[in-house]
Amino acid sequence: MCGIVAYIGKKQAYPIILKGLKRLEYRGYDSAGIALLHDNQINLYKRQGKVANLEEFAANKDLNGTSGIGHTRWATHGAPNDVNAHPHYSTDGNLALIHNGIIENYDTLRKELILHGYVFKSETDTEVLVHLIDDIQKNEHVSIAEAVRLALLNVVGAYAIVVISKENPNQLIAARKSSPLVVGIGGEGDFYLASDATPIVEYTKRVVYLEDEEIAIVDLNDGLKIFNINNQEKTPYIQQLELQLEALEKGGYEHFMLKEIHEQPRSIRDCFRGRMNADEGWVSLGGIKEYEQKMINAQRIVMVACGTSWHACLVGEYLFEDLARINVEVEYASEFRYRNPIINENDIVIAVSQSGETADTMAALELAKSKGATILGICNVVGSSISRITDAGSYTHAGPEIGVASTKAFTAQVTVLTLMAVSLAHKKGTISETKFHTMLAELEAIPEKVKMVLEKNDIIEKIALEYKDATNALYLGRGSSFPVALEGALKLKEISYIHAEGYPAAEMKHGPIALIDEEMPVFVIATKGTSYEKVVSNIQEVKARKGKIIAIVTEGDETVKEIADHVIEIPDTDEHLVPILATIPFQLLSYHIAVMRGCNVDQPRNLAKSVTVE
Ligand code: M6R
Repeated sequence: MCGIVAYIGKKQAYPIILKGLKRLEYRGYDSAGIALLHDNQINLYKRQGKVANLEEFAANKDLNGTSGIGHTRWATHGAPNDVNAHPHYSTDGNLALIHNGIIENYDTLRKELILHGYVFKSETDTEVLVHLIDDIQKNEHVSIAEAVRLALLNVVGAYAIVVISKENPNQLIAARKSSPLVVGIGGEGDFYLASDATPIVEYTKRVVYLEDEEIAIVDLNDGLKIFNINNQEKTPYIQQLELQLEALEKGGYEHFMLKEIHEQPRSIRDCFRGRMNADEGWVSLGGIKEYEQKMINAQRIVMVACGTSWHACLVGEYLFEDLARINVEVEYASEFRYRNPIINENDIVIAVSQSGETADTMAALELAKSKGATILGICNVVGSSISRITDAGSYTHAGPEIGVASTKAFTAQVTVLTLMAVSLAHKKGTISETKFHTMLAELEAIPEKVKMVLEKNDIIEKIALEYKDATNALYLGRGSSFPVALEGALKLKEISYIHAEGYPAAEMKHGPIALIDEEMPVFVIATKGTSYEKVVSNIQEVKARKGKIIAIVTEGDETVKEIADHVIEIPDTDEHLVPILATIPFQLLSYHIAVMRGCNVDQPRNLAKSVTVE
C-alpha cells in the first residue's frame, strides 16, 4: 500500500504531484505529504488524513519548485498522524525520502543509527532509510546514489523509494524491491515517478517499469540511468502505455464504485473480445495457449489469491472441475505461503489478482516458482509485478478499477476463468460440441444480460433502504453461487461496515441458523439449477424462524416469490454463468446501503486498494 509520486523537470512540481497523489489515494489515505526542492531548500508539507487535508494545509505556503516527491500513506508502523506521514527528512534537512513497503529489519537498523547519534522523530520503519543513507554518505564520502545503493544492501523487506537531495538538485533517485515503481519519460527532458501509471498517463505514454532491486537515477542532464543493486548498468526497457485518461475519471457518476458497477457490460465484453467467437465456434486465450496441454495433463491446478480475487478462484474451481474435469485447489495466498505446501514441477499455480501487486499473492507465486511449478497469472493491471513474474497469463482487460471495493474486476476474473475452463474442456473433450457452442453463445449474451440486471437498480435501492440499519446479514448460496454469497458479504462489510457472513446454504443448519430472528436479513441466490429445490427448502427454514429473505431468482420464478420478502430477478442463463449475473445485485445493494449510511464508498476506512504488505 501507500502511493508514491515524484517529478523533476521544468514545470512546477506541486500541481503534478498533488494530482498524482489524488490518483493514488486508493492505495492509502491515512496521511499525505509533499517535499519540494526550491532555492537550495527542501520544503516539506505533510498532514494526517486525505490529500485534500494536505492541499488545504499547503495552500498559503511556498509551493515553488520544479522537483519534488509526494506520498499518500496506509499506515503500517506508527499511527496515522502528521509526524509519521512521509516524506521523511534527514536530520540536516539535506535529504528527503518517500517509501512504499516495509523495512523488516528496521528495529536493528534503528538501534545502530541511534548509537551513531541519530534522533528519530517518527515511529515509522521508513525513517531508518533516510538516516541510513545520510549516515553512509557522510561516513563513506560517496554520492547520494551510491549511498542509496549501499543502504539498500542492508535492508530486508519491501520498498519503492524516491530520494530528493539538496546536493543533487538535478536528480531524483528511485529504487524498488517487491513494491511497484514506474518511471515516465516526459517529452521535455522531464521525468515522472509513481507507484503506478495513473499519475503519469496525462503527461507521457513512455514508461519504464522498474524490476526488483533496480535503482533508477533520473537526471536533468544525463537522462534516465538504471542500475541493479550490484551497480551494473541496465538498458531501460521503454514501454508504451495503453491506459486512457478518461478511464481514471468518474465520468458523471457520484462514485468510482458506481461507475465501475455500470461499466460491467463493457468490461466483460472487453474481456472476451478477440478471445472467442460464438458464431464461428472458437475460443482461444493467446496468453496461455502454449500451457493448455500442460493444464489438461496436470494432476491438479492450484489457484492462489486474496479477498475478492479468492472468491473468483472459488468460482473457477467449480468451472474447471465441472467442465474440464481438472482437479483444482483454491488457496488463500497468505496461508499457502506459510504452510510448507507440497508443490512440484508438475503443478500449475494460477494467481488471480486485480492489482497484480498483492504481496501475499506475490509471495505465494514466488514460493511455487522456487519449487519448480509453472506459474500463471490472471491480472487486471497491465505491467504489474504478478504479470511480470509469471510464465504466462491472461489480462482481464477490465480497465482501471479505482473504487477500493472490487466489482468489475471480479466479473472480469470470472469471465477469464470461464473462457479458460471452456477452452480446456473443449480440447480435452469433457464437454459435448453442443454444450461448447451453448456456452459460447451464452457468454456472448452475458453483457446484455448484465445490462438487464443493472436496470433493476431502483428495486435494489428500495431494498437497501429497508435494510440499511441492519447490524448483521447472512448471504447464502450453493455450488458456484456460494462464492457469490461470500463476495456479497464482503462487499457489504467493507463499504457499509455491517457485519455479514457468507455460507453455503446447506451449512446454515449447522450453526448460523441460531442467529436468525426477525431482525436478520438473509440474502439468498436461488436461481434455477441443480440445487434449486434444496435452496428453496433453506429459504423455508429461514422464514420459519422469521428471518427476512431477499432472494436473487431466475426471471419468471413464482415459487420463491411466494415465500421471500423480496426477490430480484436476473435473466436466465447457463448455470455456469450465474455467478456473473448474481453478483451484480449484491454490488448495487452494498453500494446503496453504504451511501445511505453516509460511508465513504470509494475509500472505506482502514482499507487500501492494493495490499502490498504481507
Ligand atoms: O488486487 P488483488 O485482486 O490481488 O486484491 C485482493 C484483495 O485485496 C481485494 O480483492 C480486496 O479484498 C478488495 N477490497 C475486495 O473488494
